[in-house]
Amino acid sequence: MNSPRLEGVRLNAPAYVKHQRLLDWVARMAALTQAQDVYWCDGSQGEYDRLCQQLVEAGTFKRLNPALRPNSYLALSDPSDVARVEDRTFICSARKDDAGPTNNWVDPKEMRALLETGDNALFRGCMRGRTMYVVPFSMGPLGSHISHIGVELTDSAYVAVSMRIMTRMGRQVFEVLGADGDFVPCMHTVGAPLAAGQKDVAWPCNKTKYIVHYPETREIWSYGSGYGGNALLGKKCFALRIASKMGHEQGWLAEHMLILGVTSPAGKKYHVAAAFPSACGKTNFSMLVPPKVFDGWKVTTIGDDIAWIKPGKDGRLHAINPESGYFGVAPGTNYKTNPNCMDSLKRDVIFTNVALTDDGDVWWEGMTDEPPAHLIDWRGLDWTPAIAKETGAKAAHPNSRFTIAATNNPVLDPEWDSTTGYPIDAFVFGGRRSTTVPLVTEARSWAEGVYMAATMGSETTAAAAGAQGVVRRDPFAMLPFMGYHMGDHFEHWLAMGAKLQAAGVPQPHIFCVNWFRKGADGKFVWPGYGENMRVLKWMLERIEGRASGVEHLFGISPRYEDITWDGLSFTREQFHSVMSIERADWQLELELHGELFDQLSARLPQQLLSTKAQIERKLAA
Ligand code: OXD
Ligand code: MN
Repeated sequence: MNSPRLEGVRLNAPAYVKHQRLLDWVARMAALTQAQDVYWCDGSQGEYDRLCQQLVEAGTFKRLNPALRPNSYLALSDPSDVARVEDRTFICSARKDDAGPTNNWVDPKEMRALLETGDNALFRGCMRGRTMYVVPFSMGPLGSHISHIGVELTDSAYVAVSMRIMTRMGRQVFEVLGADGDFVPCMHTVGAPLAAGQKDVAWPCNKTKYIVHYPETREIWSYGSGYGGNALLGKKCFALRIASKMGHEQGWLAEHMLILGVTSPAGKKYHVAAAFPSACGKTNFSMLVPPKVFDGWKVTTIGDDIAWIKPGKDGRLHAINPESGYFGVAPGTNYKTNPNCMDSLKRDVIFTNVALTDDGDVWWEGMTDEPPAHLIDWRGLDWTPAIAKETGAKAAHPNSRFTIAATNNPVLDPEWDSTTGYPIDAFVFGGRRSTTVPLVTEARSWAEGVYMAATMGSETTAAAAGAQGVVRRDPFAMLPFMGYHMGDHFEHWLAMGAKLQAAGVPQPHIFCVNWFRKGADGKFVWPGYGENMRVLKWMLERIEGRASGVEHLFGISPRYEDITWDGLSFTREQFHSVMSIERADWQLELELHGELFDQLSARLPQQLLSTKAQIERKLAA
């Protein structure tokens, strides 16, 4: 064991850790944070069980009824710590221009003084009275050329056990890292030091929050939150913000995309990567159950949230899911909307902020048609349907989550762990729009597809703190997750497409979808969920050159007769209402595209401006 003493803290590093730079960093951070002790996670089942038991004893976890939900736990967070905090998320590049106008920026020197170097720096002494867990993890299969390694230091055991589910975490990472391999240092604290004798709370956190990224030095510093993407730093912070910057420099892509495999009755397999903003159904789409009439079609999940996409040996774009688990939104999930997900949740789950039933199980809005007669809600209060009616109180927080291993998923793709990744046949971009955007459109060219992705708008959801249901531009569904200038990302996509073309390699087709059009009655018109298979099939037939469609302002969409309707009653009128392109809506839409382009004008690719001009000409004609 490597155990130098650091101002009273033992480093406690296991002998198998041979990486001096890493050891030095952990030692520096232990000294800065004044952690009470240091614990190196080995990623074993025994360790997971032990830490979960510790969390039960601390009151953070409640063990669920083992007869109903074996080896599963419920955590209720502090009511102030329930979602990603976009306004407290910073991209501290050396130059403000490199972060771009869609990111919060602070001069890195100023931020470092605030967090680590100043006399009253927030990280100074922030782990007093707490254990610092060293969490080594690989984003992507161990040893894959597409994967990268991170090490998170955290004072939250909840984070440590969640990282074991969400990433390939543990001792084996040090073997890949060797004596001097690269890793992304990820510093995390809940920001709640304990004085001697002070009793802890069930969910320690701090009202002050900073989720900070230094893209040039590839560092993450997160202060004050224990929840989701704020705290599980492999996910949004590393796999999207830091990785998007790495991809820009190194010629690959880190995207907010699910990846699914779809196999036709003839046995042909396609791989589709689809970007949607948070809480817009990525997990549901990735586990889709085709309707009965699609006998012989099979959809398998590779990932539900993030894709890393690199050119393979064949020159095509190959994707992996850097994660190994799902941190999915619970409300709305049920046996009709996502049976595979419900089956994945039968055991070995960490639930956060859902409601507790009287028999020690969980419930959330939409799980069953009838709510139980009594629950303990996500704030720990009594909840009944009558109370809900009177006060509007939700039993589960709208952003309540489950954390499960990918291997729980009954439709996990058999090759999900492939180190070489999958060649992508199609990219799909989808926002949540009650109006304006048709059910599905295919781009006629790579540039048109990049334009669709760049100008995507979506109504905001509970996944982030702040107002909900407001349409905002969410380019590539990456607005909260971009680690560099958004305009540079557009250019990067155009360049990736040009490279494929120059090499004579087929470019993936690009589609834009909208499952969320509403009728005059305010209800969704498109049934969604498994029925999305009908749209997926049209896309695959387009790839094969077998399906027709009709050209319009900004691409090609199916006519009613181009979609397979067997087994679903969906009228021409309904189809018209999810497909129609209204001139007035699009005049306004293009103005909003224009506002985004003005905001990004310093680094906006000319090709996107000319694509916009073409659409405007057609709209005026
Ligand atoms: C997520 C999100 O947790 O996008 O995946 O918020
Ligand atoms: Mn997400």
